[in-house]
Amino acid sequence: MGLEKRTVKIIVIVLVVFLIIGGIVGLLLGLLLNQRYVELEVWPRSDDYNWDQPLIQFRASDPGTWQHWIRRINDFLSVYETNVPEEPARAPCSTRNRQEQQLRSPNCDNAMRMWAPCTIDNYYGYADGKPCVFLRLSHVHYWVPEPYNMSMPLHIPPEMPEHLKQIMRLRPAHQFGDYVWVTCEGEFNSDQENIGPISYIPAGLPPGFPTTRLHTADRIPRNARALPDRDPGPLVAVLFENPRRGVLINVECRIWSRDIYYDRSSRVGRARFELYVD
Ligand SMILES: *[C@@H]1O[C@H](CO)[C@@H](O)[C@H](O)[C@H]1NC(C)=O
Repeated sequence: MGLEKRTVKIIVIVLVVFLIIGGIVGLLLGLLLNQRYVELEVWPRSDDYNWDQPLIQFRASDPGTWQHWIRRINDFLSVYETNVPEEPARAPCSTRNRQEQQLRSPNCDNAMRMWAPCTIDNYYGYADGKPCVFLRLSHVHYWVPEPYNMSMPLHIPPEMPEHLKQIMRLRPAHQFGDYVWVTCEGEFNSDQENIGPISYIPAGLPPGFPTTRLHTADRIPRNARALPDRDPGPLVAVLFENPRRGVLINVECRIWSRDIYYDRSSRVGRARFELYVD
């Protein structure tokens, strides 16, 4: 009798321990996968960046409040520096101001014109209170995107912004290639009033990431999936043309791809940040 009781006790303890360990492992895996699968990165970000409340705050008339943002954008863009940018350039090719840098190649000059006003020549718009924020997709090595395009117009979600549908009609995928589209909006009603007009830079290109330039699972060898990317991914800059001053604006950016389930609490392919222009 006593032995049986003890056996039961041991079994129960072992079970509980396994449950706890399983729970911890599951939680860790969940957290890791959640953040590491198709992440939409927002730049600039501060040292204490966290996903929930990344705040970009500055006063246009006071360089002391935005110089560190410029420095952070420059640090982020430094891996893209080149005198021979691709066509079209995947990022601004120089992080040195035109005045200090005499030797910019004609190709890079063109690329910088294409990325204007989101370039160092213009202090990425911060000096004018029209800040640019850069977006990039990361952790795409295990992802096979199913892009939205008008070759397969079925099931275009009704909430897709009209400007995006129009671009999809103007740039058919069989001719211009597929994109993982991206849009940004004010998160709540008040933000939608305060955010003002937004444009996506380069203005001449569609708002999104060309799938041919993304190192997704269908485009890299299987054994390269666990390795870091050789070339950094393409960028999109979001230009806030006239954000209301003196209020906090919650901005939500998301990608559009058939296989990415959109949800207000999801971190997959979705990012949010807060903008405060004094
Ligand atoms: C269009 O979208 C479909 C479904 O996501 C995809 O299978 C196809 O490769 C895309 N591109 C073209 C050019 O049809």
